Amino acid sequence: MPVTKFSVPEKYKYLEGFGTYHQSEAVPGANPVAANSPQVPPFRLSTERISGSSFTAPRATNLQTWIYRVHPSPEHGDFTPLSSQPSSLEEELHLTPNALRWHDFPITKGQDWISSQKVITKSGNPRKKEGLAYLMYAASESMAPNTVFYSSDGDYLVIPQAGTLDIQTELGNLLVRQNEIVVIPRGIRYRVDVVGGIARGYICELYQGHFQLPELGPIGSCSLANARDFQIPIAQFSGSISNGIASCEKENWTIVTKFAGKLFSCTQDHTPFDIAAWHGTYYPYKYDLGRFSVIGSISYDHPDPSIFTVLTAPSHREPGTAVCDFAIFPPRWLVMEDTYRPPYYHRNSMSEFAGVIINNQDEESVWNKGGGDGFKPFGATLNGAMVPHGMDKKTHEEARKSDLKPEKAGMEGFMVFLFESERMMGVSWWALEAARKFGGKVPIRAGL
Ligand SMILES: [Fe+2]
Repeated sequence: MPVTKFSVPEKYKYLEGFGTYHQSEAVPGANPVAANSPQVPPFRLSTERISGSSFTAPRATNLQTWIYRVHPSPEHGDFTPLSSQPSSLEEELHLTPNALRWHDFPITKGQDWISSQKVITKSGNPRKKEGLAYLMYAASESMAPNTVFYSSDGDYLVIPQAGTLDIQTELGNLLVRQNEIVVIPRGIRYRVDVVGGIARGYICELYQGHFQLPELGPIGSCSLANARDFQIPIAQFSGSISNGIASCEKENWTIVTKFAGKLFSCTQDHTPFDIAAWHGTYYPYKYDLGRFSVIGSISYDHPDPSIFTVLTAPSHREPGTAVCDFAIFPPRWLVMEDTYRPPYYHRNSMSEFAGVIINNQDEESVWNKGGGDGFKPFGATLNGAMVPHGMDKKTHEEARKSDLKPEKAGMEGFMVFLFESERMMGVSWWALEAARKFGGKVPIRAGL
């Protein structure tokens, strides 16, 4: 079956279908019928709405969800800045025309989902709702009890490289394992428990717009990431119903938010997981990368790598450009005749940030060459705009004289992802120091 053989079994049930209008009730009958905002909702719940787009956005991109909860969200104390701020968020970023490679990223022990996040590279500004950032996380601890987090700045596309994230969101629970991805839209509150040792991976924080499925054009109506394979949480309710009235116990909770790049926190005297039902189009979702239906050449030449796009966040600057294209390179058959099968040498207008989720390939694999060193799990590369790259000389020569038989690229145990962006990405100092720089040139200093 075209699904990943996960070592950690699934523990939740889900709704299925990307972009679909979904509705879910943890308490049967908690979603009002027809009316979105009746005078008194069922079980005397309060109506609340969270929007991910303007009200007048076209239907295809309009994202709104109605929620029915015990305590309205404004019932909390004032937010104040956290004493400990992520240092890399405000520091100067650096642009370089050199290719960068990270064999891995430095890890500080004892961190959780919030404290372990570090910006690798960034372009744009959440205050202007422009651009995006790529981050790494490496959490050995679950978040503190009775604590939730949300980003006011951007949608989080999370790619676990190792470990499992058990995520409790306002709209329900998701278990996210290696070879799955999860998208948590801005504003949605959640907490993350770490399961089975250190959880580490990559994050794309999208300040601008939202991810959507790519158009398929002549491919037709299916393949690549199919809409039915995206999984959406089911409502979970931490309160109770007594005499037809919903309530939840008093207990202290802390809410942490990232707002314009800084962390703030506040407290409230009730759980944020007091939503009995919801319906709408704005929700978190996860996807098993093993379900991706790969398209490729069955005659000659490489199609463009855009055929590997899972999700795209269009820029609207000009047709066909993206703030971020999220693509993957899964195991697949290569059968092209009279074709140079490794990636040809190229320079692209889009910047490319690639990371390694799984690589059990032998040392002779093309993916373990290319730059002369292995492409290791939790490693990454950044090839900025017009940075030339391709195979090393030895691999290049071998590819030109190899006997072209059908071969399985990647085999089992292989998954590399690629973020492509129209933007030039600025690299934070810590990430620059962690990278092994090719070319040895001094990076250009430039605040973004
Ligand atoms: Fe490339």
